[in-house]
Amino acid sequence: MTDQPADINAKFTPRVFSGIQPSGNLTLGNYLGALKRFAEKQDEGIETVYCLVDLHAVTVWQEPEALKRQTREAAAAFIASGIDPDRSILFNQSQVSAHAELAWLLNCVARVGWMNRMTQFKDKAGKNAEKVSLGLYAYPALMAADILAYHATMVPVGEDQKQHVELTRDIAAKFNHDYKVDFFPSPAPLIEGAATRVMSLRDGSKKMSKSDPSDASRINLTDDADTIAKKFRKAVSDAEPLPESLEGLDGRAEARNLVNIYAALAGITADAVLAQFGGQGFGTFKPALADLAVAKLAPISGEMTRLMADPAEIDRILGKGAAKAEAIAQPILEKTLDIMGMIRSR
Ligand code: TYM
Repeated sequence: MTDQPADINAKFTPRVFSGIQPSGNLTLGNYLGALKRFAEKQDEGIETVYCLVDLHAVTVWQEPEALKRQTREAAAAFIASGIDPDRSILFNQSQVSAHAELAWLLNCVARVGWMNRMTQFKDKAGKNAEKVSLGLYAYPALMAADILAYHATMVPVGEDQKQHVELTRDIAAKFNHDYKVDFFPSPAPLIEGAATRVMSLRDGSKKMSKSDPSDASRINLTDDADTIAKKFRKAVSDAEPLPESLEGLDGRAEARNLVNIYAALAGITADAVLAQFGGQGFGTFKPALADLAVAKLAPISGEMTRLMADPAEIDRILGKGAAKAEAIAQPILEKTLDIMGMIRSR
């Protein structure tokens, strides 16, 4: 693949874009890997654009009424996690048609061979690749459109989305190369912090996911304090005390995961957690983790419940955000069409 010049992003205003699928209960993984960091980026004073990607959600079946509820619930989770709709742009993807239109154009830039290498597609399609929707296959090109429609330079995500952001860079580079322009930036994945890959509480080799059939495998942002505490108490661990240093976590995936979760919730490093708890067993550590999680998450679920009581207000916020998003994305779409040779005469 032709690389972009190293300084390509210097041409663009620093801008953060990221998204979350409103496809069900958001988890502690979404919070630590994404939402918490989205709020931090906003508070650093960078321009931030956050999107509930409902067009991505329908790549697998969604009950229409449930999708609306889930989209409002995800919006409530953003706001409860510290996203301020007056300082960040917060909206749902389908209200800004530039996403779908740019995705089509980028479908014509991306190569089938690139899509075939996407590990998330292979995981999601499994043995059923012939039966999944065409949208699921093209999903990463829509994600590239989300990011590039804003000329975003930074994309905070969890580890599992890294390959998709790298594909976005490849698509941007090929577009710039083919049309001999430097129109699209080369967005950087920001994968930072102690919890870039939060694992299942039942199996330390599997990602914590809203689609895991076992509810005990994850903390949902809507779980109440008792449920959160019970899930951490029952989390799979091992019989050894916690080590004094990080190397002692090698081969102990479940222990490492719980330490990382503690670190991310407390806003400290995993080393600092081990400095505090090294030598102690899970009988001490798990209740401390449960208390910390309840202290951090209960206010979020409380605020979500409060916001969900007024769905019309959430819809109003999303509508206002969509208008602001469109003001950025539509001119970029228009310019893309022009570069590609489409007549724009109205
Ligand atoms: P989604 O909805 O699966 O997840 C949203 C965000 O949460 C992160 N995440 C996790 N982080 C750490 N540990 C986990 N267990 C965990 N589970 C989820 C994800 O990495 C992600 O950052 N394709 C994207 C949505 C998307 C998008 C975009 C993201 C669409 N367009 C443009 C960035 C930019 C997705 O399905 O995320």
